[in-house]
Amino acid sequence: MSAIFQDLEARRAEAFLGGGVKRIEKQHAKGKLTARERIDLLLDPGSFQEMGIFVRHRSRDFGMEEDRPYGDGVVTGYGTINGRTVYVFSQDFTVFGGSLSETHAEKIVKIMKMAMDNGAPVIGLNDSGGARIQEGVMSLGGYADIFLLNTLSSGVVPQISAILGPCAGGAVYSPAITDFVFMVKESSYMFVTGPDVVKTVTNEHVTSEELGGADTHASKSGVAHLACESEADCLFRIRELLSFLPQNCEEQPPIFGTSDPADRLVPELNEFVPENPNKPYEMKDVIRAIVDDGNFFEIHPDFAGNIVVGFARLNGRPIGVVANQPAVLAGVLDIDASTKGARFVRFCDAFNIPLVVFEDVPGFLPGTDQEWRGIIRHGAKLLYAFCEATVPRLTVITRKAYGGAYDVMNSKHIRGDLNFAWPTAEIAVMGPKGAVEIIFRKQISEAEDKEAAAEVLIQEYREKFANPYIAAERGFVDDVIMPSETRKRLIAGLEMMKNKIINNPKKKHGNIPL
Ligand code: HXC
Repeated sequence: MSAIFQDLEARRAEAFLGGGVKRIEKQHAKGKLTARERIDLLLDPGSFQEMGIFVRHRSRDFGMEEDRPYGDGVVTGYGTINGRTVYVFSQDFTVFGGSLSETHAEKIVKIMKMAMDNGAPVIGLNDSGGARIQEGVMSLGGYADIFLLNTLSSGVVPQISAILGPCAGGAVYSPAITDFVFMVKESSYMFVTGPDVVKTVTNEHVTSEELGGADTHASKSGVAHLACESEADCLFRIRELLSFLPQNCEEQPPIFGTSDPADRLVPELNEFVPENPNKPYEMKDVIRAIVDDGNFFEIHPDFAGNIVVGFARLNGRPIGVVANQPAVLAGVLDIDASTKGARFVRFCDAFNIPLVVFEDVPGFLPGTDQEWRGIIRHGAKLLYAFCEATVPRLTVITRKAYGGAYDVMNSKHIRGDLNFAWPTAEIAVMGPKGAVEIIFRKQISEAEDKEAAAEVLIQEYREKFANPYIAAERGFVDDVIMPSETRKRLIAGLEMMKNKIINNPKKKHGNIPL
């Protein structure tokens, strides 16, 4: 009997070595962890339950029948993060470069299906040379099976991708469908075609890091939501992210106890908005001053900085924050800001996370560049995302709410539940200067001192329209509040709406502008 047990132990030990000691050393020499070391850091200690450890590929070409390591280049299973179940796959670069074979794909698909059946998040740790070249179309089919599951799981369970090595070719599209992509600086990259192909086709000389490294995707393309300093940092950030999320779309997000008082006033906010409407201020300071313990988990911090999105808590309850950022491009909405905001709003809505909007927006960015690249189409995404959202939705207008952007940013008209304005709010079709130049063009051109005439009219317009009281008179704003009371009022609003249920009309699915 003991021989049978020894045999099992020996097989397990072999599987644990993946592609062997030499390749593990090579992986470490590159500053990378192995697939199993990553899982150990990601999950609660001792919680990992592996599935498919003895799976081997079925390939018989190119001498592959002689080389059939256990696990086939991916470690899969389930475990817990802060005591809650997650499913995980971790590609093992020491086995055929983590390349994806038919059986490797089957292992991933198996846990993805279980995650859907049991309603828990899926975390993919990607480190792979792409399709297993020796398997040809079998491998491509495996990718397609994963893409399908990614899509079917979308909006059912949270899906998070860590990119911890190469991720090239069509393989990038699995992480791209998932909800969040975290990369590691200097050791991971994603591209559809690598530097060599780029050179041949476009004659551009570019390194892998420049073309598709973490900084590139976190700041230029927006493909990555975070560029992390190290693998450990990346895995830690995934744990932190999950603390804001429910396990699936049927659950409410988890409530944490907090020592930050629900009725805490924030007096410094009363002095925060500069008197000069053209002077910027840091919206993230406003957010941190209001939320529990100043803890704001920002998503996409390096991309489209004119809009700020991320997770926080109010009285222990997770919220999704969407805020215009006056400190970047005056908080204007452009193409990147719109798509960044829209995707975040849709994620929060899919997973029952209430939305809190801080608004200071001068409008959409004018110009040929934006118009020709489709600001209409892309701006519509943010509008659509807010319009369709059924979670509790709160807005705080801190300063400007101009033009179409007023409507878009969670206005009352598109089902904002509680819309507050600070006394510093200016709610109008456009800024006083622009408005006066249009409606009083004739008077100004005929005046002796044009500048003085314009100034009087601007002042008049400002007094009449650039304030929150006309909107409040109509009920478009529910209350004008002291900035210092914002936390208290938001918490009371969230509490009031904790059982909110509204449904959109029955349909197959909407057709969001893409
Ligand atoms: C089989 C592979 C492999 C692959 C790497 N290996 N990629 N085996 N299929 N796709 C193996 C290598 O033979 C090597 O085996 C080991 O993994 C490590 O590879 P190295 O080249 O030594 O490592 P490194 O120098 O770090 O380079 C990593 C790499 C490179 C940049 C990923 O291996 C590479 O360019 N691989 C090919 C990438 C590729 O073209 N893949 C197909 C993309 S198209 P030994 O035995 O020596 O350890 C695609 C389509 C997906 O993926 C479509 C989905 C729709």
